[in-house]
Amino acid sequence: MTLEDAKQASGYKAAEFVENGMIVGLGTGTTTAYFIQALLGRMGKGLNIQTVASSRHSADQARKGGLTVLDINEAPRIDLTVDGADEIDPQKRMIKGGGGAHVREKILASSSTEMVVIVDETKLVPQLGHVKLPVEILFYGSSATQSKIDALGYKGAWRMDPSGTLFLSENGNLIYDIHFPFPPKHPEQLHLQMIQIPGVVDTGFFFRLAGRVVVGRSDGSTYLLKNLNEQ
Ligand code: A5P
Repeated sequence: MTLEDAKQASGYKAAEFVENGMIVGLGTGTTTAYFIQALLGRMGKGLNIQTVASSRHSADQARKGGLTVLDINEAPRIDLTVDGADEIDPQKRMIKGGGGAHVREKILASSSTEMVVIVDETKLVPQLGHVKLPVEILFYGSSATQSKIDALGYKGAWRMDPSGTLFLSENGNLIYDIHFPFPPKHPEQLHLQMIQIPGVVDTGFFFRLAGRVVVGRSDGSTYLLKNLNEQ
């Protein structure tokens, strides 16, 4: 039993929440790919839904399997969005954007009746900030934008493609990955500081967006993360 089994377990469990007639938001990433796979399996058994995708990769996987993928501007509503996370803390705050799609993911999540988060247990952390924080930045003036972030005391690096060229986000922007020497005490404040800098499109912090959080274990079992007041 492996990490992949844990990801698959959470993705497949979340697919059980999807009902006929829903418009479903598709996140991005390896865990979400299992969710889409499970939806495609349910289509063969009569599931009839429409989807909206946060990335080309998720849209391609869905379309290849026969799912309808709507343009977000054509979707009258989004009932449920299912997406992974890079880190999630006990307050269900998250860091996302390992795949460079976090801005679209946030638009989907914030436009949905519920965002269901699917993770394996390695994503559960007591405090956010062990992974790098992706910050999406416009190409225009990106050096000046970087200087303003650095002046706040944060150090980062421009994300690169394996080929050595600058990585482009799902929106065609740059990603500046910030490394924290230790987890920031006040992620909300940090987020607000960053998004006030002209040229910053958004950070990978997600606050007050997660609904149910399905945690997969490598033995293939799953559980729902409790709310703080239930713990
Ligand atoms: C994509 O931009 C990210 O936000 C992903 O949702 C996140 O990185 C989780 O991906 P995995 O499921 O591949 O770990």
